Amino acid sequence: PLPEPFQVPLPVPPVAEPVRTRGGAAVYEVEQRAARLEILPGLKTEVWGYDGRFPGPTFVGESERELRLRVRNALEMPTSTHLHGGVQRPESDGHPTDLVLPSGFPDPRHPEEAGKGEYSGSKMVKPSEWTISRGHKEYVYPLKQRATTLWYHDHRMDFSAPQVWRGLAGMFLVHDDEESGLPLPEDSRDIPLMICDRAFEEDGSFRYPSLDPSLAGKPGVREQYMEGVTGDVVLVNGVPWPELEVSAERYRFRILNASNARRFRLALDPGPREGAAFVQVGSDGGLLGAPREHEELPVSPAERFDVVIDFAAFPMGSEVRLVNTLGHGRTRDVMRFRVTRRAKRGAGAPRVPRRLADVQRLKAGQAVVDRQFDFRQKQVHGMRMWTVNGKPYDPGSPLASPRLDTVERWRFTSDFHHPVHVHLAHFQVLSRSGKTPLDSDAGWKDTVDVRPFEVVDVLIRFAGYRGMYMLHCHNLEHEDMAMMADFRIV
Ligand code: C2O
Ligand code: CU
Repeated sequence: PLPEPFQVPLPVPPVAEPVRTRGGAAVYEVEQRAARLEILPGLKTEVWGYDGRFPGPTFVGESERELRLRVRNALEMPTSTHLHGGVQRPESDGHPTDLVLPSGFPDPRHPEEAGKGEYSGSKMVKPSEWTISRGHKEYVYPLKQRATTLWYHDHRMDFSAPQVWRGLAGMFLVHDDEESGLPLPEDSRDIPLMICDRAFEEDGSFRYPSLDPSLAGKPGVREQYMEGVTGDVVLVNGVPWPELEVSAERYRFRILNASNARRFRLALDPGPREGAAFVQVGSDGGLLGAPREHEELPVSPAERFDVVIDFAAFPMGSEVRLVNTLGHGRTRDVMRFRVTRRAKRGAGAPRVPRRLADVQRLKAGQAVVDRQFDFRQKQVHGMRMWTVNGKPYDPGSPLASPRLDTVERWRFTSDFHHPVHVHLAHFQVLSRSGKTPLDSDAGWKDTVDVRPFEVVDVLIRFAGYRGMYMLHCHNLEHEDMAMMADFRIV
């Protein structure tokens, strides 16, 4: 039986503390390990978490100040940690073929060592494409980027979906002076909401339909889950349908959809007496130029929305549900807010200012190259696979070579809902099937939901570093079933 909703208070993941500073950089350590957590009341779930937590600790960085993250892999499987939306060099980007192997795990560069039956998917990768670390790896994040809401998660070749499902994900915030100069809600009224769905077995363990549950052999999921794996339990910050008591004032929420495949269309039920349900102040890539009001907020996997909700617009004592209007029955509920306290006089954030940040708007005329990426299911070697431009992922064979410090126009086309994510480079949505973008497409983005048979044009700026990066569908089952492609910035 599923737990009653709104019984558990919303937890907020702890903020990680640096272990030292080195030449101006803050150094953090985190260990990926298994832990048994009580997610469903009275039952234990084995999770794979950063520091044994799900979500992992929240990292808080400062723009322009380097942050180093030393990840130790104490699991039994390889991992790769990607800072989603981060601007970092390729060797710190958490590429799927850049693995941290636990001690004793066979090296994929030497298939004979791995033995028969191991790595049947990854065997297609040329041995020279692997980068292997043993036990741990230090990722360097220069954070030469705007204040924003990022997240980090596992990106292991062929097995990101089951490994993120087991818990390898956390939030990562970046602050800067432009943001701290704004009167936005802060501290205990600035709360990350990592929203995801999961399914559970009767004994409380996560249920996931891997072709090979050992996560060592054939990647992917059983045929009927090709479109993506969803669950019947909605978790926020790792607990089912939590409740948050709030005072009658403004709160800032960093919303992340960390689901493998579920899309959300968030709304408040009931809505506020006056004003909009959500005042969006930021997107994947940081603050918007000006706030945007939404009654409903579509959030596809990996997208972030930084929003302000004003609980002064609800009667004292109100119970306000955050719902997913795309869900049914129990998956319609996400969490509940209960307005239990008056705001202290003079306390609380003032109105969201009408100007937030300087956002340079890219113009179509700036694009020096046009490219198209088609996201589609195809038969490859007699198997149904998810492909980009007709090809399953072939690491080391880039589909494009954009030049550093240029803008290009990329067109994404699709046969299904594909939340398309580009590493390193941020973009602005120019049009959807020739029409104006959605209200929720505003600002700098790193993930955009390409809807079935839609043509989404974006202007993308290659700033940061040269080298091999990737784009892929962030439906994690599609990703594991090869819907990824490399590009090389030159
Ligand atoms: Cu959030 Cu390549 O991933
Ligand atoms: Cu997809």
